[in-house]
Amino acid sequence: MPITTCIFDAYGTLFDVAAAARVAAGEPGRDALKAVWTRLAEDWRLKQLQYTWLRAITHEHTPFWNVTMDGLDWAMERHGLSGDAELRERLLALYWELAAYPEVPKMLATLKAQGKVCAILSNGSPDMLDGAVESAGISTYLDAVLSVEDVGIFKPDARVYDMVGARFGCDRSEVLFVSSNGWDAAGAAGYGFATAWVNRAGDPVDRLPHHPQHVLTDLSTIPELAA
Ligand code: LAC
Repeated sequence: MPITTCIFDAYGTLFDVAAAARVAAGEPGRDALKAVWTRLAEDWRLKQLQYTWLRAITHEHTPFWNVTMDGLDWAMERHGLSGDAELRERLLALYWELAAYPEVPKMLATLKAQGKVCAILSNGSPDMLDGAVESAGISTYLDAVLSVEDVGIFKPDARVYDMVGARFGCDRSEVLFVSSNGWDAAGAAGYGFATAWVNRAGDPVDRLPHHPQHVLTDLSTIPELAA
């Protein structure tokens, strides 16, 4: 079936999750962060995601903002930054206004010109997603911003992917699901979406039961895939 609907993961896919630590590290007086910001950003992201998976399998859901704070606290402690409450507040504030990757606005505008439905499907809570979408200036291109808060469990639970068909009435085979998270792309492929994994870092493919159909280095070719 032709692709009618393009669904995007948010964090790491449209929005650069490393931007918070990178921006803070560039501010005056942040020498301790400057030395460790890349590893802090990686640990923050990894713990945030691990906590989503663990909370999903133990049925202890909490909004994504809470696992974002928990992941940051773990990462700050690991890198000897726990005592810096002002830095913690700054990093958390920056998470609400993460930069979108540079190709995002043009890619979404092209998809809309092709007549595609475009939406976000994210672990993020609605308030966090609204903040990021507004600050990136991409709200005009999005037909919906779908949050897992409506089903109360994180990806890759199938109830999250079900939200797309429930909202747009489309068949799974009409959906192109785009994520930078290999495990999310794998989950969506197993669900029956066409999938594109945005692999900016050149990582190996996840050893999971399902693989993405397309592996991209950025988002610029999504309109070609969807056409
Ligand atoms: C999201 C996380 C997985 O936006 O990046 O859903």
